[in-house]
Order: sequence, then structure tokens, then C-alpha cells
Amino acid sequence: MIPQSFIQDLLGRVDIVDVVDRHVKLKRAGANYVACCPFHSEKSPSFTVSPTKQFYHCFGCGAHGTAVGFLMEYSAMGFVEAVKELAQSVGMQVPETRSEPEGRKAGGGVDLYEVLLQAAQFYRSRLKESPRAIAYLKDRGLSGDIAKRFGIGYAPDGWQNLAAAFSDYDGPLLGTAGLVKSNEEGRRYDVFRDRIMFPIVDVRGNVIGFGGRVLGDGEPKYLNSPETPVFEKGRELYGLYQARRAIRDAGRVVVVEGYMDVVALAQHGIEYAAATLGTATTPLHVQKLLRQSEEIVFCFDGDEAGRRAAWRALEGSLPQLQDGKQVKFLFLPEGEDPDSYVRRNGREALEALFGQAAPLSKFLIDSLAGRVDLGTAEGRARFLHDAKPLLKQMQANLLRVQLLRELGEKCRLSPDEVAQLCELAPKSAAPRPPGPRYARAAPTPLARALLRVLIANPSLAAQITAEQRALLDAAELAPVAELIDLLREGAVASPAVLIEATRESPHAALFQQVAGETLAGSDDEQSAQADWEGAFLQLELVRVRSEYQRLTAGGALNEAERKRFQELSRRLAELKGAASAAARPEA
Ligand code: UTP
Ligand code: MN
Repeated sequence: MIPQSFIQDLLGRVDIVDVVDRHVKLKRAGANYVACCPFHSEKSPSFTVSPTKQFYHCFGCGAHGTAVGFLMEYSAMGFVEAVKELAQSVGMQVPETRSEPEGRKAGGGVDLYEVLLQAAQFYRSRLKESPRAIAYLKDRGLSGDIAKRFGIGYAPDGWQNLAAAFSDYDGPLLGTAGLVKSNEEGRRYDVFRDRIMFPIVDVRGNVIGFGGRVLGDGEPKYLNSPETPVFEKGRELYGLYQARRAIRDAGRVVVVEGYMDVVALAQHGIEYAAATLGTATTPLHVQKLLRQSEEIVFCFDGDEAGRRAAWRALEGSLPQLQDGKQVKFLFLPEGEDPDSYVRRNGREALEALFGQAAPLSKFLIDSLAGRVDLGTAEGRARFLHDAKPLLKQMQANLLRVQLLRELGEKCRLSPDEVAQLCELAPKSAAPRPPGPRYARAAPTPLARALLRVLIANPSLAAQITAEQRALLDAAELAPVAELIDLLREGAVASPAVLIEATRESPHAALFQQVAGETLAGSDDEQSAQADWEGAFLQLELVRVRSEYQRLTAGGALNEAERKRFQELSRRLAELKGAASAAARPEA
């Protein structure tokens, strides 16, 4: 956990306009900045960045957030990663804390990153000195530019070359980084020897590991870094960092199997490819990819191994599928991989194949149908049996409904029967948004209005009276109460800070949405004050009226009740007068 106070300081220090502008060129438009939205395709700019509120909102697709949120969305970073990146950009140091997902545990993460970077630089410099390694890359069709883009290097033959690059060759860091091992006598030696080195880079551009290929026919063909505190194979994709911009431009990411595939595709102008690292595609991979693009094309070899890898990718994709996003599968002709295919047939031929890739549903049904004889009852039963665990992993979304229909046609059942036999939750339910699983009252228009005023004018929270605060105890006003309490605790200076402070709140989505809406409205302080008071009048009116009605419905009043009744009538008349005066346009 990064302390909230740090996030506040950070958001006070960075300017979202700079942060966004580094990735998306912004143009000034009145008090705000605008651009064409990077999160959906559009011709005229509806993506708006507010320097005063320190957040962005797209009036086209509804995307919104703070500088942290922007990096998370745009660069597919996790929260911690995004905070670190921002901190780095303004020279702040994120406080070290207990449980960090990136695991700065053994050896200290920063040092590990430095060691890995230094090793990458060392390998790159050695490539320049090895005509044999250069010839190998040339022979595989790679230019110097592409080698540079991917930071490709060469680990020379010999047991302790890294000793020349690291004064601390015998210290613990090189071992933790997976660059050296010790033999039985405890002598250190380099893990990578006489190999072409492919640095693996995370979304922030840090080197986190290596893949090393033999130059000839040795075994193993590829040697990969072990998992380390900074490298987890089930999360990372080779080439994703370099591909980011192209993925956005193409609206598509292609996932291939090998390092050389990524590099060769880039060589031929297809820059939106990334590769899993010799492991099956995980749901985390898919999540990362779907954050960056609308469409994933898994492009695998046409052989048995390729089919198996594709099936694993399908399984990894199911829990991550969202309507409006596409996952597709392409199998290359037997004996080809993307590298050989693009070299032989060129970019256009391969891109044409991408365009014809089979949607996930087709691959799923064809694969299942291929295993059984649908002409028999037993075959159809088996077909359904195999489909069941897959369907259960899908959210109850539109695609699942379609899939149920198609599966039903294959095994002669109605979609409802398929759903029932596969024990699926009712199909109408939309996927539950993340957050605590308790019922929440929908915010009323009044609650939204209060939030809007409050987010645009956080100082209003300070002037709230005890009676007013008590009016907010109703369930549908809980978001307003939460926000006010937070603001009154102090230190929430800007709307952006507020959004980050409530990231974990059950009302986070509402806060962000309303914050976005405030970008469109005017920021007049006077009218804010009036709106604010008007809203509380309204609240009190509702409360007083209901008490009044309760009293009068109960028959004869005792002394105390009668007194209360008079009080209420008077207040009600006042409130009605005030409310109608507030509603009357000024002359
Ligand atoms: P391939 O055997 O398909 O290699 O492995 P490739 O990418 O076509 O390589 P070239 O063209 O012969 O150079 C695909 C991926 O599987 C992993 C690597 O990540 C590789 O890129 N792999 C393969 C290993 O990790 N170790 C191996 O020994 C082989
Ligand atoms: Mn290959």
C-alpha cells in the first residue's frame, strides 16, 4: 500500500496536462485542453483535460480519471506502476512499504533494475564487437535499427564475462537477477554464454529479464531468465513496451509465440505484435492486452503445439472477455511461423490473414465439435460436457448469449436448455462491477447534484452544519456523506486528489463519473453556493414533510406532539418560501 498522503503530495506536484501531453498532443480550448480521445476513435476532439481540476474526461466515450488513472489506462500500468512513474517524473521517491506486487524484496528492486539494465548495455556493446553475432542477425533479415529498437545484444562465449561489467560479480544481486549461477564448488559463472540476447522490458521500459538464443543448433534453443522479484512470466509480454503506440494506432495487438516473431514482424512494419515468454497465455496477459486495444489476434503455428498454445490462450481469455472487445485466432499454414511467413510473403499478405482470423466463438465451437461425433447422442452429450467449464468462466455477457445459441444448434437444444444444463447464472445479469458486494441504493438526482457541487467546490464541505450532516444519513446519500467526511478530515486539495483518495470506495465509479460531468459545467462560485444551499433546503423539506405527515396520520396529538407539529408547520412554510424563491429566476 502506498500511503494516501503520498498520493496527495504527488498529485499536487504533477500536472496532468504535462502527463497527458507527453502521450497525446493537447490543444488549449478556453480553460481546458482538448485532443482526439486516445481511448476510442473519433474525428473531432471530445477528450478534455482540466488543469484546475487535474483530471480528464472524454465526452465521447466517458473515459475519465486523474494523472494516475490516465497512465493506468493509456500505458496499461498497474496502480503502483503508474504512481512510480509519475513520482519519477517529478523526482519524488515512493515510500517503501510491506507488500508490493512488484516485489522489491530480495536484493532491493531498484538495484535489480539497475543490474539488469547494466547487463543489457553490456550485451549490446558486445554485439557490436562480434561479427559472428551480427552476421547471424543479418542472416535472419534484421537491420541495425530493429536490433537497436529491441535492444538486442550478444553474450560472448566464456564463463565470467559479466565480471568485466560488474565490480560486484560475487555479490548477491547478479544471482537474484538470474544472470549468474554457482557450481558445486561455489564458483560463479554466467548463465548466458554465446547467445543472442533479447532484453525483456516491462511497461515502464525497465529491463526485467532476458531471452538468449543460441547462434546455431545448440540446446536449449532459447534460455530464459528465471522468475525474479521483478520478472513474472505470467504477466509480461515480450515487445509490448515497444509496440504500445502501434497497438493504439492499429486498434489491434497480435500475440505470437516467439521473440524472433515479434522482431521480424517489426522489421516488416508490423509493429503491434508481442509474445508470451515461452509460457501459456494467462488471464493476466489478456487483461493487460485488452486494456490497450479492442482486438487481440493470437497468431500461432499451424502445428499441434500451436493448436495447444491457442487453446490455452482461449482458456486464458474467457474470464477476461468483454462485449465490444474481440479475441481472434489465426493459424498459419503448417511449417510456418510469423517470422518465416512475413519474410516469404510480406506484410500485406500477413495483415490480410489477421483480418480473416477466426473469432473466439468459432474457434471454441470448432475445436469442441472436432473432438466428438455430433451425429450421435453420446457425441452431443460429450460436446456439452466439454463446453460447460468454459462457459462457466465467461461473464454473463452478450457474447455468451450468442455462444449458447450456437452451441444449442450443434447439440439440438435450446439456448435456455444449454444454460440450464451447464448450470449458468441467469443470462440477463450484467457483470457485477468490482467492489464490495452489498446492496447499494442508487444515487438520487439530488445526491448527484450535491456531489457535483462538492467536487467542483471542495471548500463547501467545511461550512456544513451538524443538522445538515444529519440530513445525509439516508442510504441514497451515502456517497455524499462519505465525500464530506473525507473533505472535512482535511488535506484533500483538488478533485484529482479526491478521486485518488476514493479509489477503493464503493462509490469510486460514481465519484469519477460526477467529476467528469463537472468539466462541462461552469465553475461559478456563487451559483455553487446557491446550488448547495438549495439542495440542503430540499433535503430538509423532504425530512420535515415526512415527519409532519407521520404526525398528522397518527390521530390525536399529545402536548409534545402538538408543539412539534407547530414547529414543523412553521419550518415547512419557511422552507417552501425559500425553495420557491430559490427556484425563481432573478429579475
Ligand atoms: P520456437 O521454437 O517456435 O522458436 O519457440 P522461434 O521463436 O521460431 O525461434 P527461431 O525462429 O527458431 O529463432 C517459440 C518460443 O518458445 C520459447 C521462446 O520464448 C521462443 O521464442 N522457447 C522455445 C523457449 O523458451 N525455449 C526453447 O528452447 C525454445
Ligand atoms: Mn521461428
